[in-house]
Amino acid sequence: MKKHLLLALFSGALGLLMINCNPKTDQRTMTESVQVQPKGTITVTTFGKLPDGTSIPQYTLTNNQGMTMKVIGYGGIITSLTAPDKNGKLEDVVLGYDSLEGYVAKSPYFGAIVGRYGNRIGKGKFTLDGKTYTLAQNNNGNSLHGGPAGFDKRVWTIEAYPVDNGTAIKLTYLSKDMEEGFPGNLQAEVIYHLTDKNELKISYKATTDKKTIVNLTQHTYFNLSGNTKTDILQHELMLNADKFVPVDKTLIPTGELKDVSGTPFDFKTPTAIGARIDKDDAQLKAGGGYDHCWVLNGPDDSLKLAGTLHDPATGRVMSVHTTEPGVQFYSGNFLDGSITGKFNTIYNKRYGLCLETEHFPDSPNQKNFPSVVLNPGEVYQTQTVYTFSVK
Ligand code: BGC
Repeated sequence: MKKHLLLALFSGALGLLMINCNPKTDQRTMTESVQVQPKGTITVTTFGKLPDGTSIPQYTLTNNQGMTMKVIGYGGIITSLTAPDKNGKLEDVVLGYDSLEGYVAKSPYFGAIVGRYGNRIGKGKFTLDGKTYTLAQNNNGNSLHGGPAGFDKRVWTIEAYPVDNGTAIKLTYLSKDMEEGFPGNLQAEVIYHLTDKNELKISYKATTDKKTIVNLTQHTYFNLSGNTKTDILQHELMLNADKFVPVDKTLIPTGELKDVSGTPFDFKTPTAIGARIDKDDAQLKAGGGYDHCWVLNGPDDSLKLAGTLHDPATGRVMSVHTTEPGVQFYSGNFLDGSITGKFNTIYNKRYGLCLETEHFPDSPNQKNFPSVVLNPGEVYQTQTVYTFSVK
């Protein structure tokens, strides 16, 4: 029941205090505010306790524009993120709950880090070096988002992370050999960096001691209306992709990479999400709307534009850049009004959308998709940047 103040660093005139909270031992309510930049701060409070008594901290990061991001140790969940509208009004642009109980009881991955494998693996099976691994089938006979107890339900250790611009935290989690059926002890690290340019830079890293597969992503549901006033059907989306990944009825890729031209999947120019979502189209029917991976134009492995999202009503714009080859655009089709979230809002169908940057679904079983294999000695490293502006 101890908070460890690990170290205090001084760089020039700027004081930087690193806090390491051990969730297993920390029973106290924590409230700590430290100045990490001239105007950026990190505050730590207790968000709640898991049924086993584990205390879950919430870190609030504030940049010098007043933008704030709140992150909890459970699932590395982004519980809140504010962004200015065209009048400079800061409002929350992500879905979630006010309390930990909500996230634990029922959450369609709100704000969470998803791993070891973002999206689906067909029949929950894959083969490495001739050995077949079987994962739990938690979605129509397939494995989804790392299984029933994926990274979104694990307790991550959080500490402040030193940066020159804005504020940042580092989250770490050791996924044990064969956890949820995946081989190898996987040491995962995620850095959330809120810059003073209103960017959220997310850097993922992982290493393993046995050959394995890995595909980490972030499952935040965005709604740029601010404090979730309406659904996302009027948001205009542009996706920098000439092709997408068609799926079967259980949302497993058919293996084809299909040209978006002439289909409701063509977002090469900004288009309202609601404009074609209910069209009579077999792929839209399979997903109940958009729930597909787009194949991003531009080089794999280097930062490139994935897309932009614009809410004409508030002027908020979010652009997404990533080193990943794909982005899963999920239009919140399975939200059904059964969840009441922050601001007492009932999350009806399509009240939020996800832009999950990642490798393509079912890559371990698709020989033509970019590889998701990680070998011992290699470092898995990807980056995604969400930038907020107005127009
Ligand atoms: C998937 C959806 C799924 C959702 C979970 C998305 O990433 O593509 O099919 O329902 O996550 O809420």
